[in-house]
Amino acid sequence: MRGASWQQGGRNIVITDIRDLQVLAKRRLPRTVYTYFENGGYEEETLRRNRADLEAFALMPRILNDVTNRTLAADLAGFEARMPVALAPVGACGLAYPNGEVEAAKAARDFGVPFCLSTLSISSIEDVAKGTQAPFWFQLYLMKDKGVGEALVQRAKDADVSTLVISMDLHVRSQRHGEQKRGLGAPPHIGFSNIWDGLSHPGWLLSMIHSRRRTFGNLVGLVKDAKSVPHLTEWLEGQFDPTLGVKDIEWARLVWPGKILVKGVLHPQDAKDCIAHGADGIIVSNHGGRQVDGAISTISVLPEIVDAVNGRGQVLVDSGIRSGVDVLKMMARGADGCLVGRAYVYGLSAMGGPGVKKALDMLYDELDQNMALSGATDIRKLPPDLLVNHVEFLLQSGGGQGGGASLR
Ligand SMILES: Cc1cc2nc3c(=O)[nH]c(=O)nc-3n(C[C@H](O)[C@H](O)[C@H](O)COP(=O)(O)O)c2cc1C
Repeated sequence: MRGASWQQGGRNIVITDIRDLQVLAKRRLPRTVYTYFENGGYEEETLRRNRADLEAFALMPRILNDVTNRTLAADLAGFEARMPVALAPVGACGLAYPNGEVEAAKAARDFGVPFCLSTLSISSIEDVAKGTQAPFWFQLYLMKDKGVGEALVQRAKDADVSTLVISMDLHVRSQRHGEQKRGLGAPPHIGFSNIWDGLSHPGWLLSMIHSRRRTFGNLVGLVKDAKSVPHLTEWLEGQFDPTLGVKDIEWARLVWPGKILVKGVLHPQDAKDCIAHGADGIIVSNHGGRQVDGAISTISVLPEIVDAVNGRGQVLVDSGIRSGVDVLKMMARGADGCLVGRAYVYGLSAMGGPGVKKALDMLYDELDQNMALSGATDIRKLPPDLLVNHVEFLLQSGGGQGGGASLR
């Protein structure tokens, strides 16, 4: 057990799970920043469905197995990880904590899981390389200005980035009502309420003095005449590329010698096509409910995609994961590994690098204990009947008359 207590605003909080970190994050961050991390696209149906569907699956534990020797280790795109979890690319993590991306990357390195840096980070590729002295992943948004993508790929090579993650689910940006209402458009509108919001969170505000950068570290300098955040956000808005497709995966395959993961896949045919056009693996993702609204949850579609890929590449998954049990469920549905976004951002927002470590420790312990309690010993070899869809199980068991449906 790694329970720990944390003092905030004179209150003593015993941290037992990711939700506790979320509570601390919500208290420390200005509402505008918290909203940016938390909100989803449009009516947030996808955001809610991710959680609802994860909870709709139930474990069917086996109790007669010896579970003394257990392993959570997993190969994630060539990275020997301590558990099947990587930190997802999250834009502007430097708003959560000063030099947030470097803090998170160091915590991931020390724990033994991959960290993926977003194109839209505050710390740059070079900042993370210098701060960690260890391999990390880089997520690329391909933009209309192809020179930007080429330059970023070259910088990622120079920084010894091990895996390139190409996000293909942002042909256009979705509207997030919460961001709109708080002035986080392009360009952002900083009004009195935002200023008051910042001033009423002095802990966060004062800590930000230690930020080495105040804008998107990977883009500044690459974009002519755009030096400030308003200029860069306006430029970005016109840069999302609606023509994204297999040609871009082929381009990446030509210029990138290492592993390539395509992120944002939700359809089995897309999964097949990504692999056929050069990807080493895919990330089944709905962007944590931030892009297309009304979309299918990733846990629902996972087995079909695993079948479609048929061992020709790795299948990683994210969206909605908030606990080790969620990781266990995704793995039981056939994933090779998972990514977490908000789960680590809460820790980062609450207390910087130690908060990310805390999040990883809790995910590890929850995963390990619940795997043992389910009678499994190797996270890569979970029995197919470990998981059932609870609703279907109830319907098919005829209210307790026996039977039950395994979805796999
Ligand atoms: C605040 C925020 C910013 C994000 N920025 C990016 C990004 O820059 N690039 C990207 O590929 N995905 C981005 N994502 C999506 C994450 O990589 C990941 O798919 C998502 O967070 C997983 O869902 P979860 O937060 O429920 O774990 C972002 C997610 C959040 C919450």
